[in-house]
Amino acid sequence: MLLLHVIATPRSAVSATLRVSHALLEQLNLASADVQVETLDLFTDDMPSVTGQNIDSKYDLMRGQPIDASRIAPWRSIEKLISQFLRADVCLISAPMWNFSIPYALKYYIDAIVQPGYLFAYDDSGVPSGLCGGKKLVCVTSRGGDYSLGGPMNAYDMQEPYLRTIFGFVGITDIEFVNVQPMDMGPARREAAILDGVSAARRLADRLAPALQG
Ligand SMILES: Cc1cc2nc3c(=O)[nH]c(=O)nc-3n(C[C@H](O)[C@H](O)[C@H](O)COP(=O)(O)O)c2cc1C
Repeated sequence: MLLLHVIATPRSAVSATLRVSHALLEQLNLASADVQVETLDLFTDDMPSVTGQNIDSKYDLMRGQPIDASRIAPWRSIEKLISQFLRADVCLISAPMWNFSIPYALKYYIDAIVQPGYLFAYDDSGVPSGLCGGKKLVCVTSRGGDYSLGGPMNAYDMQEPYLRTIFGFVGITDIEFVNVQPMDMGPARREAAILDGVSAARRLADRLAPALQG
């Protein structure tokens, strides 16, 4: 089983999100899940262009046409990123909340890989459907504030609903969230929330492991 870990925080050494994601990965190992982990760091790895010729190519695809031969070469870097995502049985996204939503680097990644004919397809009447059924998605998020269900900030959470919507759109129905919060309301609350997040991540890993035995 291949697990693609998509890192969407630039704070690798001190990241709260990654503390919890790493606990999840460690527990998957302890629970004997047969997973090979590939890491994509959206803030340090090279990303393909999502402008110019590659945007023209996207419009070819949206019109149901093949990509113009003159633009195939730059499109290959988009295809490489897409293949990496499609190859993975499980995708783990580690993302802090930024301005109530996702960091721009994760939005950029989504804009690069969510392409017609690759992650979703239109039927004859133009209705799209997802092509990524069968893949599991785990999102570990951390937030400065607390956006828990029933709390006063819950309506501001555009992060979990957006990620559920876009990855649901491409056909992923098996989506799990570990939201770690509040991170920036004092060190005691931060540490307690991280410990809760680590426990939740370990429980989730134990639940996922049997399905990842190869
Ligand atoms: C650019 C930026 C925007 C942020 N926006 C929010 C926000 O809208 N709501 C919130 O609760 N925290 C916000 N935060 C705080 C982070 O979500 C929080 O510190 C998180 O735990 C950071 O995760 P990390 O340590 O893995 O990078 C923001 C932080 C940054 C750097």
